[in-house]
Amino acid sequence: MSASTTARPLKARRSAPLRGVAVVPGDKSISHRALILGALALGETRITGLLEAEDVLNTVGAMRAFGARAIQVGAGQWHVHGTGVGGWGAPTDVLDFGNSGTGSRLVMGAMATTPVTVVFTGDASLRKRPMGRVLEPLKLFGAEYEARAGDLMPVTLMGAAQAICVDHKVAVASAQVKSAMLLAALNAPGRSCISQATLTRDHTERMLAAFGAEISVEPLPDGGEAISLMGEAELKGTPIDVPRDPSSAAFAIVAGLIVPGSDITIPAVLLNPRRTGLIDTLREMGAEIVVENERESGGETVGDLVVRASALKGIEIPPERAPAMIDEYPILAVASAFAEGPTVMRGLEELRIKESDRLAAIVAGLRAGGIAAAELEDGMIVEGRGADGVPGGGHVATHMDHRIAMAFLVMGLGSRHLMSVDDTSMIATSFPEFEDLMRHLGAQFENA
Ligand code: S3P
Repeated sequence: MSASTTARPLKARRSAPLRGVAVVPGDKSISHRALILGALALGETRITGLLEAEDVLNTVGAMRAFGARAIQVGAGQWHVHGTGVGGWGAPTDVLDFGNSGTGSRLVMGAMATTPVTVVFTGDASLRKRPMGRVLEPLKLFGAEYEARAGDLMPVTLMGAAQAICVDHKVAVASAQVKSAMLLAALNAPGRSCISQATLTRDHTERMLAAFGAEISVEPLPDGGEAISLMGEAELKGTPIDVPRDPSSAAFAIVAGLIVPGSDITIPAVLLNPRRTGLIDTLREMGAEIVVENERESGGETVGDLVVRASALKGIEIPPERAPAMIDEYPILAVASAFAEGPTVMRGLEELRIKESDRLAAIVAGLRAGGIAAAELEDGMIVEGRGADGVPGGGHVATHMDHRIAMAFLVMGLGSRHLMSVDDTSMIATSFPEFEDLMRHLGAQFENA
């Protein structure tokens, strides 16, 4: 299912203080993984809090195409009956993952050691994104593939008939690649070892343990880690309560910080330390963000965030923090525009290959809103103008990127003049409630 092709432009204007409770939807990364592991397990996986956005619904469709049953029993409540590891059958049609890099790459891994042939495609944005980073290492397990020049979709992946276990160091700082390799290892006889020099989000590892896989994680001297996973695993269906997505909460957090007088609460947000880089950074910039009721839920830490409008100052952000906030740079750049002085961000090569070239899209959007910004090869410098100094007044090209659309709408809520974005239809890929939720807090949006 590809996202709607009818563009829906929207404008955002300076708003009165934002107030109230913002209940953001379930975490996208954990939602994809719950469906995939549920479809690989034997027995029933009962999921609550699933993100019902286009990206995740495409993964639901893929799981059904492989032969798993996935039934919606209520809002965010799904029952998945898997086939057992190695039990996936060949889909009878092309699998269309729409806008979703995560869904498509994780599923490539999950099928790579089962003898099925699958054609993967996606929307115009996904068909520009590199798939070789996943497909090349999957060949180590015995899988083969054909792709468009540059390892672009459409891709045909032929799962290994006789998979072999691997010992492999992942070359890029990507949780998707690491996770694809781990999911492939599930059906390869023997013990595979997947290591990575960078610590990326660890939801796959945590959830594999919860489904009964034999998995262990060891730190490496270079600061990375090595994950050892026993193949031909017998996964057992298990209940998963999906925490709320910090990458969606990020938009409400920054809106609360930059709209003067705001005071908002965002309950039950995932606080996995590999996802909280934005909160740490905003606090260093002077943000008032209080975590209340910190608690454990389904193997993850969650907490309620209380956010109050704050005077921010520009800072230099450590590049090694990038993996813990990799999806948050569009909204962090907007927060930086409302800070006093420059904010420097580096180590962001990966942003060039997200749903859009985010470094280019962010810098263009900031400039459209009257903020000076320099695009670096691996980052950017944003010249902040303080809480009351952002001119706004520009029109932003979103390039089919949901996070660019949401970030620049938030910018408009604190700018002197209206900001407009050329399309909001892509927001449905990750956060369909965004517009309603923000309006409920007091955000002023106008149809263009
Ligand atoms: C994700 C990993 C990240 C992130 C994406 C979700 C995941 O991508 O940008 O939104 O769920 O594993 P990379 O692995 O490409 O960094």
